[in-house]
Amino acid sequence: MLTVQKLDVKGLRVLVRVDFNVPLKGGAIRDDNRIVAALPTIKELLKKGARVVLFSHLGKIKHKEAPEVVEEAKKKNNLAPIAARLGELLNQPVKFVPLARGKELANAVNELKEGEVLLMQNTRYEKGEEKNDPELSRIWADLADVYVMDAFGSAHRAHASTYGVPEILKSEGKPVAAGYLVEKEVANLTRCVKVSDKDRPYVAILGGLKVSDKIKVIDTLLDKCDKIIIGGAMAFTFFKAQGKSTGLSPVEDDQLEYARNCLAKAKGKIILPVDTVIGDAFLPEERKTVQVVNINDIPEGFEGLDIGPETDKLFSSHIAKAKMVFWNGPMGVFEQAEFQRGTISICKAIKALDGKAFTVCGGGDSAAAIKQFGFDKDFSHVSTGGGASLEMIENDGHLPGIDILG
Ligand code: 3PG
Repeated sequence: MLTVQKLDVKGLRVLVRVDFNVPLKGGAIRDDNRIVAALPTIKELLKKGARVVLFSHLGKIKHKEAPEVVEEAKKKNNLAPIAARLGELLNQPVKFVPLARGKELANAVNELKEGEVLLMQNTRYEKGEEKNDPELSRIWADLADVYVMDAFGSAHRAHASTYGVPEILKSEGKPVAAGYLVEKEVANLTRCVKVSDKDRPYVAILGGLKVSDKIKVIDTLLDKCDKIIIGGAMAFTFFKAQGKSTGLSPVEDDQLEYARNCLAKAKGKIILPVDTVIGDAFLPEERKTVQVVNINDIPEGFEGLDIGPETDKLFSSHIAKAKMVFWNGPMGVFEQAEFQRGTISICKAIKALDGKAFTVCGGGDSAAAIKQFGFDKDFSHVSTGGGASLEMIENDGHLPGIDILG
């Protein structure tokens, strides 16, 4: 795979797919981590005298909805504030074109000078983006002499900007390359997929709401890991499959058989909670009681909202033996203060490894949690891609947006 470092791009138009899908509130950026993560590639290209054209999606725009709904989604997902923030971080002006196709955009790209950078409007303003529409891919490919993929968070999407464009440029013999962020993510996550003996015991930690979201990853990890720790709400589907009463805890009844088969196949590899923090309602304003119970004693009318303190000890004892850890999904409802303890205990157990193991946080909610609790520096790698890192594990190291670069 060609990488940015090896590119000779002086005076060339380099089209860079970045993932600037950052959380916004009222038009303000809540977390600029993904913009910061793209800086090494952008700076390197500018230093080499490229004419840098950036493009990214932001949020969801459903083109099948009524025109006024689409307009509202466009307004909400306008990339203008991102261009302003990028300009601050680069300490140079970023030209923003509020369109994702057309003459004005093409002219702005062609007028760019060496060492200048432009960001076009959200790729999802165009309805052909998510359909990998060949006509749209052609339009974007015409803006590029070279293509760089640095949107790791979107590499599991075979969209026009992540797949169609590099496919066209490759067929025309133009360079397509991976950016620094993609290179770093691929190197770190590949280690969790192609497991070497020095990285054993390999412990995976899975949490979050649904078993159904994680079926493929559980199957893959069962083959690759030495232990799989399962916490979060998804553990209750396993408990119901074992015949335990789960009270009001969320359970996916259509996954009970899968959970049963998994436990049988796992032969002791799966480690489940032994106690849980329960409440009589999910919403704080409706809740009267919170208590810790053994996993066999969840009463009717209560639901599990975090792992319990005995489970902290159990899970931490397995993490303490690990040489490699991959973690995706919180242990409880960490957005509510009463149910943060379990997720924090995983962070502490990883911190206690003190760099003696290779530790990866697979993006999404768990990355948000470790940042909120101040443990992000204690991991060897924190992925910028929630869906992408999971799919990379599931698909044995393959993602469409990366494979097309090869
Ligand atoms: C993400 O935030 O996971 C990526 O940017 C992909 O976004 P998407 O799920 O809207 O395609």
